[in-house]
Amino acid sequence: MTSLSVLSPSLLLDRLRPEVRALQPQFVAWRRHLHQYPELGFQEHLTSEFIAQKLQSWGIDFQTGIAQTGIVAVIEGTQPGPVLAIRADMDALPIQEQNDVSYKSRHDGKMHACGHDGHTAIALGTAYYLSQHRNFRGTVKLIFQPAEEGPGGAKPMVEAGVLKNPDVDAIIGLHLWNNLPLGTIGVRSGPLMAAVELFRVRVLGQGGHGAMPHQTVDSIVVGSQIVNALQSIVSRNVDPIDSAVVTVGEFHSGTALNVIADTARLGGTVRYFKSEYEGFFARRIEEVIAGICQSYGAGYDLDYWQLYPATLNDRAMADLVRSIAEQVVETPAGIVPECQTMGGEDMSFFLQEVPGCYFFLGAANAEKKLDYPHHHPRFDFDETALSIGVEMFLRCVEKFGLR
Ligand code: NI
Repeated sequence: MTSLSVLSPSLLLDRLRPEVRALQPQFVAWRRHLHQYPELGFQEHLTSEFIAQKLQSWGIDFQTGIAQTGIVAVIEGTQPGPVLAIRADMDALPIQEQNDVSYKSRHDGKMHACGHDGHTAIALGTAYYLSQHRNFRGTVKLIFQPAEEGPGGAKPMVEAGVLKNPDVDAIIGLHLWNNLPLGTIGVRSGPLMAAVELFRVRVLGQGGHGAMPHQTVDSIVVGSQIVNALQSIVSRNVDPIDSAVVTVGEFHSGTALNVIADTARLGGTVRYFKSEYEGFFARRIEEVIAGICQSYGAGYDLDYWQLYPATLNDRAMADLVRSIAEQVVETPAGIVPECQTMGGEDMSFFLQEVPGCYFFLGAANAEKKLDYPHHHPRFDFDETALSIGVEMFLRCVEKFGLR
């Protein structure tokens, strides 16, 4: 945890407009409702219904069923101007919640352990405020996106045309972030989060008796060589100035202590920032696997998926978000430019289409033990961040309209 001196929750709330501060209990109630009914990717039916009911009751135009469970809402200001999209993801994770709180998940084995319940509540709060205060320039498009945790809802939403009609000029989004304390905002131009690729290989050896290895092709020995050799890709093939990761996260093989396994199944993930590495890891990983398998007389099947590209922020939009962050949280302690992570995000697909900025909203509060990492069964965050998120979005809308 970064040790920054930041404002207390009550001082942070004091910096927000009174109307937003007054809505804080409402934001908390929405977030806690969503937290109790978490749904996995493309199954966000209750979540989608909840959002639709709210939007309808506030008289906001919206469309449901986009990329299955996604929603797009449009709010027009009283004066013409550019179109700014705000994106919120709304899916949960297959995790059994271990928090003992009144708003604990009621869906067995599912949990909002990444804060997407908060993202949805912040976007709803922004929508509500704007529907009541339309004295801004331009149009705001709210994109409630399914399945960020996989298999990915951003790409099908782009393909469904959510950035068109009215055409989006720029997009913003945020992630509640427990790697940063409440009262800080992580914002930078250029790459924020990494490209995500996945691979799985099946080594095809020949099984046999554990005492007679000369009659076999030992898939575990071959697989182990592959695991070791893959480690050399980042250390020996990637420019040391660039960042990349190759992680083998799975290795399954064997059935008995005295049997040589005929197959081994292993796989993992690849991360990097620079688009010039697109296709490189897929090619190099196959070369390594093919070479090792050939030298041992084994065969292989390889599956490789390029999941999400890197999340790249536009300089002008990052400058806009940073200038607003400086007003909302105290500077300079509150602004964290060195906030890159090798985690991935399908916000990247929106950012490939239009300029934008994705930023991290500090949400951890160590004193209240609200600082477990994302995807942990005890993940939770300081809900003061909800109002800060709404204020950030509102000021972005107001300032973007003046461009
Ligand atoms: Ni997330």
